[in-house]
Amino acid sequence: MKIEDKIKHLEELEKQALLGGGEKRIKAQHDKGKLTARERIDLLLDKGTFRETDKFVTHRCTDFGMGEKKILGDGVVTGYGRINGRRVCIFVEDFTVFGGSLSKAYAEKVCKLQDLALKMGCPIIGIKDSGGARIQEGVDSLAGYTDVFLRNVLSSGVVPQISAVMGPCAGGAVYSPAMTDFVIMVKGSYMFLTGPNVVKAATHEEVTSEELGGAMVHNEKSGVAHFSTESEFEGIELIKILLSYIPQNNLEDPPLIESTDDVNRINKELDNIIPDLPNKPYDMLEVITKVIDSGSFLEIHKHYAKNLIVGFARLNGRSVGIVGNQPAVFAGVLDIDSAMKGARFVRFCDCFNIPIITFVDVPGFLPGTAQEWGGVIKNGAKLLYAYCEATVPRITIITRKAYGGAYCVMSSKHTRADINFAWPSAEIAVMGPEGAVKILYRKEIKEAKNPKALEKKLVDEYTEKFANPFITASKGYVDAIIRPSETRPRIIEALEMIENKRDTNPARKHGNIPL
Ligand code: HXC
Repeated sequence: MKIEDKIKHLEELEKQALLGGGEKRIKAQHDKGKLTARERIDLLLDKGTFRETDKFVTHRCTDFGMGEKKILGDGVVTGYGRINGRRVCIFVEDFTVFGGSLSKAYAEKVCKLQDLALKMGCPIIGIKDSGGARIQEGVDSLAGYTDVFLRNVLSSGVVPQISAVMGPCAGGAVYSPAMTDFVIMVKGSYMFLTGPNVVKAATHEEVTSEELGGAMVHNEKSGVAHFSTESEFEGIELIKILLSYIPQNNLEDPPLIESTDDVNRINKELDNIIPDLPNKPYDMLEVITKVIDSGSFLEIHKHYAKNLIVGFARLNGRSVGIVGNQPAVFAGVLDIDSAMKGARFVRFCDCFNIPIITFVDVPGFLPGTAQEWGGVIKNGAKLLYAYCEATVPRITIITRKAYGGAYCVMSSKHTRADINFAWPSAEIAVMGPEGAVKILYRKEIKEAKNPKALEKKLVDEYTEKFANPFITASKGYVDAIIRPSETRPRIIEALEMIENKRDTNPARKHGNIPL
């Protein structure tokens, strides 16, 4: 064959590969309101930067008549390119080919890409649209999945891994995204290990795929997903925004962008944001947004465990992780879900050199049998563990309450936070005044002529003693008491002070976080 003919043959094959499962199936994909794998890549990557890998790979199964059905690329489009000029690896499941189901050859394509991303130190993005393990391939597809899972684990904390679910994500397809750093789910997509039919057979429950594992189910109830978007377009834009806060790998710093927001900007409204009554809520999100670079907050896990806020922001153009108790939801109490949410985020920031700013207003841990039986001890310990092991620069601001174990946990000085501030409104004590007085003065209150009046007097005295940051400051447990209005300049200055921080943990194989 002459070279011209070979090139012609190549072009024909390339054309064929572009069609995936064929025009009919592409139309069916569009009719469902979904984009094809290649359309998704076109939208996500910088124009002209995508280089496909393993375009001509086909499956090797001969059972169930599969020998006759070979499709170039075999249900996943893999390759590399750039997003806003930065290198990424990407694999996108192609539902038009055997429902995006995973064969051994398909898994090998993904594994090669995972190995490349890990070696090159660049983020890897997976777009999910798949019916799970290719049933015809039996144990080969299970082996393939496990090869991918292994690489998810080996990449964890070395390169950022982002998943966006844009269609079904069934059976074995769920565990790879579950082990990545961020999961975005688009409205109409769903994730489940066992589908509605299996659920019905096992439990007689009738559920639809969306009821079982739709985008909001995993954003609100299970916490498997970190973001939900209305459309694929929104999901794709979100990937770009998310990447802008994070470095390429664990050896790099996050990108620094030029900030137009004044570093010395003070905000007088913050001086009046804490209500006069200690149990009156206010919105910590308002505090956060008044302090950070204008418009820079990207909230993560927005719909899950809303009593704790986590997300990325910028301070003078520098990427930071924000953690904040939310007094407007359950008084900002810590519980099982919020502790897990916080721990995962703190650990992500620590892996990828993103300083952590913690805003504290927490009355303690949520009491009750549901929490104790559900394991609030071991789950609360996750957040404590995460902060204690974090060596990235850390700044803490106690705005109001910091009670009991929650004081210790929330990036206290004792967990190796670098700069700890308190507002004059801070209340720091081993427990709330009502509870403390009931324990300390049980006998006196019981025997008093007017127990109610005595209790009130004692509560007032206790409050007077502890409802301020001065005792804590006198012991050096906070470094400075600052005016709320000057929080932004003080944090930015502190961040500059600690930007070259170096701290390490003892050498070991790995710690044993209470899982
Ligand atoms: C082989 C599959 C497939 C699969 C879908 N297809 N899933 N082929 N293996 N896992 C094929 C269908 O047969 C169909 O081919 C085509 O893809 C499109 O699928 P439809 O069913 O027509 O699409 P839709 O109606 O949109 O339904 C999508 C779906 C459904 C809900 C995902 O296909 C489905 O329930 N699939 C099976 C899901 C599942 O139970 N997966 C678990 C596998 S076991 P034709 O040619 O007929 O059009 C597993 C365990 C691994 O994953 C554990 C590892 C840890």
